[in-house]
Amino acid sequence: LNYRVPRTRRDIFQTLIKGLQRLEYRGYDSAGVAVDGSGKDHAASISLYKKTGKVKALDEEIYSMLSRAELDTHFGIAHTRWATHGEPSPVNSHPHRSDKNNEFVVIHNGIITNYKELRKYLVSKGYEFESETDTEVIPKLIKYLYDNRENEYVSFSTLVERVIKQLEGAFALVFKSIHFPGEAVATRSVRAMVSLKLRLQSAHTNKVIYLEDDDVAVVMEGKLYVHRIKRKAGEDPVRVIQTLQMELQQIMKGNFKAFMQKEIFEQPESVVNTMRGRICFDSNTVILGGLSDHLKEIKRCRRLILIGCGTSYHAGVATRQILEELTELPVMIELASDFLDRITPVFRDDVCFFISQSGETADTLMALRYCKQRGALTVGVTNTVGSSICRETDCGVHINAGPEVGVASTKAYTSQFVSLIMFALMLSEDRLSMQQRRLEIINGLKKLPELIKEVLALDDQIKSIADELHHQRSLLVMGRGYNYATCLEGALKIKEITYMHSEGIMAGELKHGPLALIDKHMPVIMIIMRDACYKKCHNALQQITARQGRPIILCCQDDPEISKMAYKTIELPQTVDCLQGILSVIPLQLISFHLAVLRGYDVDCPRNLAKSVTVE
Ligand code: G6P
Repeated sequence: LNYRVPRTRRDIFQTLIKGLQRLEYRGYDSAGVAVDGSGKDHAASISLYKKTGKVKALDEEIYSMLSRAELDTHFGIAHTRWATHGEPSPVNSHPHRSDKNNEFVVIHNGIITNYKELRKYLVSKGYEFESETDTEVIPKLIKYLYDNRENEYVSFSTLVERVIKQLEGAFALVFKSIHFPGEAVATRSVRAMVSLKLRLQSAHTNKVIYLEDDDVAVVMEGKLYVHRIKRKAGEDPVRVIQTLQMELQQIMKGNFKAFMQKEIFEQPESVVNTMRGRICFDSNTVILGGLSDHLKEIKRCRRLILIGCGTSYHAGVATRQILEELTELPVMIELASDFLDRITPVFRDDVCFFISQSGETADTLMALRYCKQRGALTVGVTNTVGSSICRETDCGVHINAGPEVGVASTKAYTSQFVSLIMFALMLSEDRLSMQQRRLEIINGLKKLPELIKEVLALDDQIKSIADELHHQRSLLVMGRGYNYATCLEGALKIKEITYMHSEGIMAGELKHGPLALIDKHMPVIMIIMRDACYKKCHNALQQITARQGRPIILCCQDDPEISKMAYKTIELPQTVDCLQGILSVIPLQLISFHLAVLRGYDVDCPRNLAKSVTVE
């Protein structure tokens, strides 16, 4: 691989710490590293350093504890944690260890579902546990198997295989041991770690190898060996080295205060990248290359099911109506977790879309496997080439928004939105009755980047509204029709990074409950655009103002009717109704950004959240 081989222990720490910093935005409760011990006999000991909080804290700790002389060897592993079992604390951080001598140390992503049984068994064998995590059973179990190997020679990878036979759940693991110096073993049973590796390595190399489930990778004396635990006949055990296209500067913050802010302002370009090479504005055709082979099958299907979590789910909500209109198919939108809880009926002639920025979200991945098992055609809509969802779906669309680092998703949402619209356009290409509507939408897409710029130019005005709102405890966001998704997505942004209570409310439901919340103190944002719902939204507005509500209204330019009833307005350029949500979400992205800054929070790393959640 084409990265500089680290020579000294200082190099190793720096490589590990830099790698952790690159993936820190995905989980940052705590971090830890394990490296060979120092001194002559370094291979016979492992040093562990663990710290709650950000990687920087770990970095400082390591350098304050080590004198220069100690920094002169060998081999290490590192991890950032997003707590599932046990609070963020040094003892709950990874690497976990088998015993006080650190004979075996392990890092783990995922969840071990049978850890309670294993823990009970190991406790009965005299093992003492120090953490509350599910992971700790793994180093203890490998030590137990090592100590009970009865004079037989067992390689490190064989031991690891024996351990994982006992584990249930989803895991990606890396092991290191004083009994196997200079060696590390990695394995996985769901594809939880793939994109973490991708980030980790991007600081040092652009070459990666994706492990499949039940692969065991051994690093020994500077060489990498990969084998299958059980090789099936005809299976190709070769894992090719892949080159990542990601440019490092793409994940730098530049002059922006936060990645999220940079990503909001990238949207005029990111939507262009989503459309590039796919829409021909001369012939009004749309071709999504990743779906062409399956187009016939898709056209024959009985319904479309859009599945995702968080923001990705909202992209489904936002485009459902136009998908229904242009494809004339029933469209279901589903939160992945609920879809699985309900054991939803899925059939061979369903087409299921899995929308995911990271392509690694465990709930969405499980839903994908569920639909595959039932014979449905599976389509990925992801932002991460080579991600698990990409690789496991039958076909798909890359949204090409570029790397998104801020935990609160922004440009991925608008690109998912555009991708799903393009799908609807592609599917309806041969429908005569739809041509005029298609043309209108394609023209709208063409003008979209300019209109996004116009909305971004309202940033100062939006900031002054945030100045007024930042001491509030609650913020309601109301709308309906094409802009309902914006309410949900706007409220999610506000919750995620400002920690204010916020709710996206369907304006049609106002009189069925939420109206009770309205008085002169409750801050309300309403979205009222000139579309089929305009009149109905106007009614909702009257119901609000009649109760002394003072709404801030997102409306179209030059709408005196609305402006005179508003406490404040944010006037947006008008586009085709089904694209309006791409413009209306941007002021809410900006408001949440400014609110979070004013309230003093870390915009890119909101408490308790992670960029991609690889546990169910
Ligand atoms: C997490 C993130 C959300 C994101 C959701 C789905 O909860 O905090 O911002 O929308 O996962 O992520 P995905 O990568 O599947 O789009």
